Amino acid sequence: MTSETKRIKIFDSTLRDGEQSPGCSMNLADKLLVLEHLEALGVDVVEAGFAASSTGDFEAVQALARAAKKTVVASLARCRKADIDRAWEAVKDARHPRIHVFIATSPLHMECKLRMTPDAVVESAVECVRYSRSLCEDVEFSLEDCSRSERPFIYRVVQAAIEAGATTVNLPDTVGFAMPEEYEALFRDVLERVPGAAGVTLSCHCHNDLGLAVANSLAAVRGGATQVECCLNGIGERAGNASLEEIVMALKTRHAFFGADTGIDTTKIYAASKCVCNVTGSKLQANKAIVGENAFAHEAGIHQHGVLANPLTYEIMTPESIGLPRSKMVLGKHSGKHAFAQRLADLGFRLEDARVDELFAKFKDLADRKKTVSDADIEALARHSRGADAPARLELDRFSALASDAITPMGAVRLRFDGELVEKTGTGDGPINACYAAIREIAGLPSARLEVYNLTAVDGGMDAQCEATVKVSHNGRVYRGSGVSTDIVEASIRAYIQALDSALADKDAAPAAFDHPQRGDTGVH
Ligand code: KIV
Ligand code: ZN
Repeated sequence: MTSETKRIKIFDSTLRDGEQSPGCSMNLADKLLVLEHLEALGVDVVEAGFAASSTGDFEAVQALARAAKKTVVASLARCRKADIDRAWEAVKDARHPRIHVFIATSPLHMECKLRMTPDAVVESAVECVRYSRSLCEDVEFSLEDCSRSERPFIYRVVQAAIEAGATTVNLPDTVGFAMPEEYEALFRDVLERVPGAAGVTLSCHCHNDLGLAVANSLAAVRGGATQVECCLNGIGERAGNASLEEIVMALKTRHAFFGADTGIDTTKIYAASKCVCNVTGSKLQANKAIVGENAFAHEAGIHQHGVLANPLTYEIMTPESIGLPRSKMVLGKHSGKHAFAQRLADLGFRLEDARVDELFAKFKDLADRKKTVSDADIEALARHSRGADAPARLELDRFSALASDAITPMGAVRLRFDGELVEKTGTGDGPINACYAAIREIAGLPSARLEVYNLTAVDGGMDAQCEATVKVSHNGRVYRGSGVSTDIVEASIRAYIQALDSALADKDAAPAAFDHPQRGDTGVH
């Protein structure tokens, strides 16, 4: 790092803003795994959740705060004493705790959502930052919907928050409305006009509604931001948040242009990205920058020729720089455990030896049926077999299903429910539907509703495994499940059982004291 190089802090919100994206909810074991990847990457701050939103979120933030080894752990809080108390209670055991408090500052939000006057917003911001500082030395204050707020008011609020003790001030583009030039100017102007702004960390937080989240974040860095808030794979509300991997690789690849460094070990990006896909069950578009399947693939002959002659002809970064080996060994039935374990690690899984042994046996079994086992096959295996640390209440014992266009399709399913064998039959408009009716009855969740059902071949070929993914709603909450098998009915049953099992395990299923940020009036984006 040269003396002129700026150090940009990376604030990751995959576990808070990212988790708010539809279908990206994670359980505690998933979150702890993501945290391990974030620490391996070297992010400066992990926003672990919104502790006041539910008991489950509180417990998750607390567990993450206790587990984090080096990163700052933040909890979000509205400008309310009860929220701040809850946030502090959740993060106070972290080695480096942070309270992140926010209030909206745009005329639209103040009038229509908060129903507060600008003076009352300033007063509340000051009171809450001061109170947060009385609990915690590290306090971030965010002006929600800042990019649509009036400049003089922004300056007033930022100054008041700094005087009240905020150590980081965040100017979010909450609805992805800003243009890069405008957003850059916002940071320059705040630094120029607000006394004390240069003495705190100035942060940007961009949503991707117009596809500009990364461009805006980079513009903010040019304007003087020294912290960037982002999420792995760009997940987040609506069109998502700025993507961590794109920002970090842009700053690294165009180092001379930005004159900025992050503390990120970029070789850990690929595994971290894979981990988020696996725990959220979300797939990346093939042409997603940096981590998409095609990001380093060269299809056109002229490009292949160029890359073989000199990779720099068509590659501005190497696959190795994000932790993606250029050529990978093909795994098949003669592969050994060491190569298999290494591939699991490359794909973002961090597993105990006993789990690796268990998966290796399944891999061998699959390799007997398929000539080569692809990465997608391995990911599917690892995703769908649970370890002893995640015991299921519902387990498939056996099933049979009848598909027919002459008589009503039927399904008979036998499950182990808390260890006891229970068998039921059901009917439906197809064999899968019939099995689902039987499973609902066994689980005692008759009102569970199948919202989304997807079936895909994990890989090409006649011997392909297929993967079923489902989303099931129950009591206003949505649960995800996925299952893999060479049999589509079995994959579908396994997916459904996993979703219903999560519904049974959900402590927050009964209406909680606070609305969840996804559905409540919290206005968190
Ligand atoms: O988008 C936003 O404004 C937010 C804040 C709560 C930081 O997520
Ligand atoms: Zn946001």
